[in-house]
Amino acid sequence: MRIITVKDYEELSKKAANILASQITLKPNSVLGLATGSTPVGAYRELVRIYKEGDINFSEVVTFNLDEYYGLDKENLQSYYYFMRDNIFKFVNININNIHIPDGRAKNIEQECIGYEDKIKQAGGIDLQLLGIGRNGHIGFNEPDVKFEAQTHLVTLDEDTIEANSRFFASMEEVPDQAISMGIKTIMHSRKILLLASGEEKAETINNMINGKITPELPASVLQLHPDVIVLLDEKAASKL
Ligand code: PGA
Repeated sequence: MRIITVKDYEELSKKAANILASQITLKPNSVLGLATGSTPVGAYRELVRIYKEGDINFSEVVTFNLDEYYGLDKENLQSYYYFMRDNIFKFVNININNIHIPDGRAKNIEQECIGYEDKIKQAGGIDLQLLGIGRNGHIGFNEPDVKFEAQTHLVTLDEDTIEANSRFFASMEEVPDQAISMGIKTIMHSRKILLLASGEEKAETINNMINGKITPELPASVLQLHPDVIVLLDEKAASKL
């Protein structure tokens, strides 16, 4: 794991965007694995800025999002489809056919999950996977006690995740308790991984992920086994290392 620590969220966002932009520059038809949540918002904003300055082109870029809430329609303001459109896709020249996000309303979930894995394979695999991390150590929606061999599947969200994500909903009861998520195996097959963490509330989890034992109880700890991971932290997230 390569650990890079920067001063604050602004710097973290700029550096993350630069890494993503370099990937697109080096391979214009990159397959990017993308994440939602608060952490990557600044990186997407910076990436849009780099795009508007004319320095990168999304026309051949292919994307696969990590996850989507089960039962939420694309048009729902809390869906990750909506989040991605609102934070990045509507601002750049990405081909809509190259955007992939699990369909939270699929009639046949098993088929949806198998189909998602097939599409990743057909695209040639993920070149660079962007990740956030939950306070409970989840990556994607792979919650503690995850099966490391799982591919894209329907998951039940942890109480801690529901509570953490309730800030985006009117009440905790409105947070879906299931989601479709890439599995740990899917994530581990990415050629490169860039994990972002900001703030003190992630510090202990980050320390356990990097220095603790590899355990399904802390899903992100499996990244110790991946050959090419950048962990990009601000000072607060790195404060317990
Ligand atoms: P956050 O979520 O970026 O909103 O903290 C990260 C995650 O749950 O993966």
